[in-house]
Amino acid sequence: MKLVKWNSALFLMFISVLFQFAQAEEMSLAVENGKLEFFESCSLCHGKKAKGDGLFSKMLTIETPDLTQLRRNNGGNFPYREVYLIVDGREPITQHGPRQMPIWGDRFKSTTWYTVNQNYAETLVTGKIFEVLLYLDSIQEE
Ligand code: HEC
Repeated sequence: MKLVKWNSALFLMFISVLFQFAQAEEMSLAVENGKLEFFESCSLCHGKKAKGDGLFSKMLTIETPDLTQLRRNNGGNFPYREVYLIVDGREPITQHGPRQMPIWGDRFKSTTWYTVNQNYAETLVTGKIFEVLLYLDSIQEE
């Protein structure tokens, strides 16, 4: 009886370790995808290290923000919701003034919706933006 209990406790432990491992794997894949997207779509302005010094930033009339300070500027919490809305850009956020950054929600959608139905394209866009957010969260400076 005792042995059975031990076995099931060990089994549960084993499963939970496996599960955490699988989650970590999935997470790192998402961060990796976000990084690729960042290099492709954002680094031209925000810079390869997200410090706001990309090649194109010099041609803009407003300063391109350093994206490694988002957590620090928000009292130690990465502002997922706000950053999501800023990157998506389809909902205007008034306090941000005139916008020079592209509306990524529309851009990402136009590249996906030809291949899948409209609703699913929306889900893919959300996922794509979240991958970029996970990457940004992973490079925040203390
Ligand atoms: C054409 C240049 C350009 C590109 C490309 C670009 N951005 Fe921006 N980004 C800006 C500028 C300029 C601002 C400042 C506000 C504005 O003009 O909209 C900004 C603001 C932001 C902000 C708000 C930061 C803050 O502190 O308020 C975030 C977050 C952001 N960009 C993320 C991204 C991500 C993620 C991508 C890629 C998917 C991206 N940007 C691509 C130019 C760009």
